[in-house]
Order: sequence, then structure tokens, then C-alpha cells
Amino acid sequence: MKKVGIIGVGEYLPHKVLTNADLEKLVDTSNEWIITRTGIKERRIASKDEATSDLAIKAAKEALACAKIKPEDIDLIIVATITPDMPFPSVASIVQNALGVKHAACFDISAACAGFVYALSIAHQFIARGAYRHALIVGAEKLSAITDWKDRNTCVLFGDGAGACVLGEVKSGGIISTHLGCDGSNLELLNLPAGGSRRPASKETVGEGLHYIKMQGNELFKIAVRTMTHAAETVLKQAGLTYRDVDLIIPHQANSRIIFAVAKRLGLTEDKIYLNIEKYGNMSSASTVTALVEAVKEGRVKKGDTVLLDCFGAGLVWGASIIKW
Ligand code: UT7
Repeated sequence: MKKVGIIGVGEYLPHKVLTNADLEKLVDTSNEWIITRTGIKERRIASKDEATSDLAIKAAKEALACAKIKPEDIDLIIVATITPDMPFPSVASIVQNALGVKHAACFDISAACAGFVYALSIAHQFIARGAYRHALIVGAEKLSAITDWKDRNTCVLFGDGAGACVLGEVKSGGIISTHLGCDGSNLELLNLPAGGSRRPASKETVGEGLHYIKMQGNELFKIAVRTMTHAAETVLKQAGLTYRDVDLIIPHQANSRIIFAVAKRLGLTEDKIYLNIEKYGNMSSASTVTALVEAVKEGRVKKGDTVLLDCFGAGLVWGASIIKW
């Protein structure tokens, strides 16, 4: 089996910033409530004519340039998203065409906020077994398109963005271990009820607002803390490591209180947590990858560091991965 690592990173965040003060004008909320309950100060919102693939393409271009490889050297593209441009074709196919990546295998995966770690794990296996040389994996979302801007329980939480990584063979380190899982018994806690085959889009579904994110945040919060702690402990055990070996945890950025609670349970001090939730809010599958990309750019991840990715989301899915940089 080949050693596989991240050899290039990129991101794209739309220019428009929506602050907590802006939200105070839309719904009955306050800057103080949002900051103390979530840690979010602002989020990015894509323009009307920007789709998820537009964000993904920009992040992917940066990752390819960073990896210093040509589009034709990419054999596989996976896009993790819950907000594809359309049900089909895949966002990955749109990205492939825009980048001029000829013949690479392309598909999207739907694993919500754990989507990036799922994509990482899939691509890892293809390269480790020698089926492909390089993979482009992207987490991209335009959550503003499925957000109910009249619902204060959800509209303060989400944002738009994309992050991308190029995976390839490395001489040392790389992806050490990954743990993925799902418990499908709590689907109603976080979903988008209509627009699929069970309830196709109709006047009624639109009228009832069923094309927007529905979330029971309070219940999810407790499960998120338990599950992310368990996922991190499992992947550490799999790798034969302990929390003392972790230089930086890069968790899914849904709520800073969830992140601090998980870190505390794992025994990780605040200096070992990477947060960018204050700038971007929750971007589902784009959150963890964007945080990873920014941690690398800021020098928070250095050669030889052990990084722990830890995610949780609708499904309810989870995924954790250990990468030696
Ligand atoms: O992305 C993957 C999965 N997502 C998550 O893991 C999210 C997990 N959940 C959370 O992050 C938190 O539960 C929220 C941030 C969504 C909510 O925080 P909370 O501390 O759990 O608040 P709550 O839902 O228990 O609501 C507390 C109060 C309620 O008022 P009452 O009933 O106590 O009078 C809400 O109506 O806060 C009220 N509230 C708000 N007040 C001002 C809810 N949203 C807002 C708001 N502004 N935006």
C-alpha cells in the first residue's frame, strides 16, 4: 500500500459578508445571542449567479496550483456537498469540465458535515491501492440557497464556501487512519424534507417551506458532543495514538461550544483547537476542509505535525481522520 497525503490545498469564500448586525435586521436575534451560543460573528454569502460548482472550481484551481500539478494529472474528482447545482449531473463533472481535467472519474458524495472526511477516505483508498495517482477532493456548499431567512433557529448558523485538497503519494506521513460511521435513527433532527423523490417540488412543498433546512439544534448538540468525542477516540485508538500525540484538532465548525466540549473530553487544551467559525459559520462539508486549508496557510500545521479531523452532521454521520503532515 502506498502512503497517501495532501499535496496541495485551496479555498474560496464568496466576497459578501453577512454580519450578526445584518441578521438583527432580518429576524428577532442579537449579536450577543449568536456569539455566546455559537461563536459566529459573520458568514459569507454567495451571489445570486454563483452556484456551488463556481465556489468549488475556484478552490480546486488554487489547490492544483499549490500542488504544482497539471489538470491532466488528476485521475479522480470527488465533491462532497449537500447543495449541488442540480440533482444531476454531479458537481464533480462540472468541476472536471471547467478545469479541463480529461477523463478523470467524477462523483459527488452526500455525507453532510462529514462529507470532506468521507471523500478523503474514499480517495485515500484508490491511491493507496495504486488505482489512481492523484485525486482532487472538494467540500463545497451554497447553504444560503436552502436557508430559511425567516427562521432564527437556523438562519444565523450557516454560510457558503469551498475548500479543496489534492491527494497523492507521499514519502512519509500522510493519512494514518480514518474512522467513518452513521446512525440513521435520528434523521428528523436535521434534514431538508422536500425536493427529492419522496416529496417532489410542488406548489404545496414550496408554500410550506419544505425546501429549507430543518433542525432540532438542542437535541443535536448533545449527540454531536458525544459522537465527535467517540469518533476522535476511535480513530486515535486505531492509529495507536493518544491525545498527547495530537498537535492540532480541526473539527467541523458547527458551534464553538460543541468544539470546546469535545476538546475538553479528549484532554486537548485550547491552543490545540483550530477555529474559523467566527468568520464563516457552519458551511457543512466545506467547513472542515476550509479550516484545514487556513490552518496550513497560517502555519498552524507544520511539517511533522499530527492533525486530527473530527466531523459530525446530518444522517447522523461522523468521520474522523489522523493526518501526519
Ligand atoms: O452541522 C452539524 C450539526 N449541527 C449541530 O451540531 C448544531 C447543534 N446545535 C447547536 O449548535 C445549538 O443547539 C444552536 C446554536 C442551534 C441553538 O443553541 P441552544 O443553546 O441549543 O439554544 P436552544 O435551541 O435551546 O434555544 C434557546 C432559546 C430558545 O428560547 P426559549 O424557548 O428558551 O425562550 C430559542 O427560541 O434561544 C432561542 N433562540 C434564539 N434567540 C435569539 C433560538 N435561536 C435564536 C436566535 N436568536 N437566533
